[in-house]
Amino acid sequence: MSTNLDTRIHAELEQFMADGVYKRLNYLASPQAARVEMEGRGSVIILSSNNYLGLSNEPAVVAAGKAALDKYGAGTGSVRFICGTFSIHRELEAACARLVGTPASLSFVSCWNANEAVPGTLLTEHDLILSDQLNHASIIDGLRLAKAITKCQTGVYKHGDLDDLRAKLAAATDRRVKMVITDGIFSMEGAIAKLPDIAAICREHGAVLVVDDSHASGVLGATGRGTAEHFGMVGQVDIITSTLGKALGGAAGGFVAASEEVCDYLTQRARPQLFSNALPATVAGSALASIEFLEQHPERVTRLRENARYFRDQLRGLGFAPLPGETPIIPVILGETSSAIRMSNLLLDEGVFVTGFGFPVVPQGQARVRCQVSAAHSRADLDEALAAFKKVGSRLGLI
Ligand SMILES: Cc1ncc(COP(=O)(O)O)c(C=O)c1O
Repeated sequence: MSTNLDTRIHAELEQFMADGVYKRLNYLASPQAARVEMEGRGSVIILSSNNYLGLSNEPAVVAAGKAALDKYGAGTGSVRFICGTFSIHRELEAACARLVGTPASLSFVSCWNANEAVPGTLLTEHDLILSDQLNHASIIDGLRLAKAITKCQTGVYKHGDLDDLRAKLAAATDRRVKMVITDGIFSMEGAIAKLPDIAAICREHGAVLVVDDSHASGVLGATGRGTAEHFGMVGQVDIITSTLGKALGGAAGGFVAASEEVCDYLTQRARPQLFSNALPATVAGSALASIEFLEQHPERVTRLRENARYFRDQLRGLGFAPLPGETPIIPVILGETSSAIRMSNLLLDEGVFVTGFGFPVVPQGQARVRCQVSAAHSRADLDEALAAFKKVGSRLGLI
């Protein structure tokens, strides 16, 4: 029997296809690496993965995941305070805190959960949280949830606009706790938050600063400690959230890094912590090994940076105009969503996997293909990808 829901979603799915925005999943039969085996396509260079340091398939990381599976078993059994918490979670949390430079950290099954936990647990109806306009969807939903749960005030400041942030904080005279949240690296732009200025404004107004370093952990700073290290500000950010699902092994998981008391309070009260199972031990094991690998191999971060610089410069040399920046996220703006999807499809025909993004993920008229470079790419991989960009760019009249 078909319901109204069936009728509605059927019509919407048809419309996605008619509009050229329907997403088809590409199935992989090999690990995330510079090249992957894609069903129906064979070997493809992947230029759209968050596997920034190439650790997803690093032997030591995979071995540590297997060892943790053997030692702790497959399941966590329940939530941490009910059935016990594995010692590997404590080790992982110590490593996350050490990496980003805070006294403590608390792991979650995803950074999505971490971003929901922070405002929804720490704020009350007397408080305010301000979020950068281009923050990640998990932060946006975290604010919506916090507003519904705690009745706190929420607000958005224009992307990177320090005057707007200052004015909104200054106007919030009746708020007891003021919190400001920003991505460290904005994932669709590759831009880095103006952390020194934002931190100074927060100090001026007694606001708590939260940075989501999901795209910056393992990426920014000489040793990959994130946005704070990039600006020489390790230890100066009140709360950092980040993912274990990108540079740090790429499996899954997230964490909140902060003071002992903030982490303790989240352990007591955060709903994603109290009512959802912990990160599987095997994932905690591989994430821990990723952080240890990063600590021993800062040259991976250097290589990532060199690859990003090379690819951006060469794209420019071909006549493309990638957004300027210094991160491994390199977007090329094309305008209409259908243009981005077409370019992405043509690149895939040439054996290069780069995703096209359109509205509503990015603003209307600013659809793009977003390249993400990895330390795993060799110069030959990058040159082959650039040759595909040259061919497709000429065919589409872009260069
Ligand atoms: C800035 C940012 N925050 C949070 C997340 C969510 O991370 P996770 O996959 O661990 O839920 C992402 C993932 O895309 C992200 O880019």
